[in-house]
Amino acid sequence: VAQELIFSGIQPTGIPHLGNYLGAISNWVSLQNTDTRRKNILYSIVDLHALTLPQDPNILRESKKKMATILIACGIDPRKSVIFEQSKISEHAELAWILNCIAPFGELGRMTHWKSKLHTDKNIKSPQDIESTSGLCLGLFSYPVLQAADILLYKATHVPVGDDQIQHLQLARDIAEKFNKKFNPIFPLPNPILVSGSRIMSLRQPTQKMSKSATSDYSRINLTDPPTTIALKIKKCTTDSIKGVSYDPTERPAISNLVSMYAAVKGNSTTIEDVVAEHKDSNTLQFKEALADVIVAQLVPIQKEIERLESEVGYIEKVLDEGAESARIIAEQNLKEVHRVVGL
Ligand code: ADP
Ligand code: NA
Repeated sequence: VAQELIFSGIQPTGIPHLGNYLGAISNWVSLQNTDTRRKNILYSIVDLHALTLPQDPNILRESKKKMATILIACGIDPRKSVIFEQSKISEHAELAWILNCIAPFGELGRMTHWKSKLHTDKNIKSPQDIESTSGLCLGLFSYPVLQAADILLYKATHVPVGDDQIQHLQLARDIAEKFNKKFNPIFPLPNPILVSGSRIMSLRQPTQKMSKSATSDYSRINLTDPPTTIALKIKKCTTDSIKGVSYDPTERPAISNLVSMYAAVKGNSTTIEDVVAEHKDSNTLQFKEALADVIVAQLVPIQKEIERLESEVGYIEKVLDEGAESARIIAEQNLKEVHRVVGL
C-alpha cells in the first residue's frame, strides 16, 4: 500500500483568524492525531505566496515566526508533523518553473482568485488595462502553479482544503496528469480532504469570507485577540433587525454566520440545530455574549501556550530548521527524479 502524504500551507500574511483556525488549522491538528502509521504530514508556511502582494520585509519575517508559534500553540506537534518555511526549500520555486512550462495559460486566467482581482481592482476596466494600468504582478496570476508545485514536490496524496481552494487543487491534478502523460507517470494525483461547513464569514460583511487581508480588523477574530477585544468585536458585529436567533444563510446571513461559528467552535458534537435550539429564547445581544464566551474559552488556552512558546528562546527557530531538514530530504529526491524525466 502506498504511503499517504498530507500537505497543506498557510500564508504568513498576518495573525491567523478564527476562520483559518476552524477551516484549516484545527483540522490539521485532528489529521495528525488520527492513525499515523503510514502517514507523512507536512505543513508549510508559504512565504513565497505572500510575495504576490506587497510585504514589509521585517514584518514578513516576524509574521513567519509568529505563524509557526501559533500553529504549534494550536496543537500542531512538530514530533508528528513537519512544519517548515516554503522558501527554505528552493525546490518549490524550481519545480514551479518547470510546471509553469506545461501549465495551461487559459485555465489560469479562469481562476476565481484572478478574476475577482480583476473585478475589484478599479484601475482595470478591460483586459488590456492589466498591462497598462494595474500594479498586479505575474506571480499573482501564476501562484496556483506554485501551489501545484508545493503539493507535487512531495508527491502529496492528500491535501486538506477549504472550498475556496478546490479549484486550485483541481489545477494541481490537471498539471500532474499532463506531466505524467508527457514525461513519466511519477506524480500521484492529490486528493482533497474537504473541510466542510466551516467557511467563516466576515463579521462586517457576511457575504465575504473572514480574511487576514480585509482592511477592517473588526471583520475578524484574530487568534491573539484578548478576551475584551473578542467580546467587543462580537458585540459590534453586523446583525439584522429580525428578533431572535435562527439559521437562514440566505435571508439572515449575518446571524447565521454567528450560529455556524458557535457550532464550529463547540466542536463536532454540537450541530447548528443544537445551537438554534439552545438559544431560541435569547435575543441577539445575549446570543452574542454567549458566542464571545465560547470563543474566549477556546482561544485563551491557545494564547497562554503562545506566551509560553515565545518565552522559550530559540525553540521556534529550531523547529523550523528541523522541519526544513526533513522536508528537504523528500524535495531533493523528487526534484532529481523530475530533472531526470524532463531531461535537465
Ligand atoms: P487568508 O485568506 O485569511 O489569507 P489563507 O489564504 O492563508 O487565509 O488560507 C489558509 C487556510 O485557511 C486555507 O486552508 C483556507 O481555506 C482557510 N481559510 C481562510 N479563510 C477562511 C475562512 N474565512 N473560513 C474558513 N477557512 C478559511
Ligand atoms: Na485563502
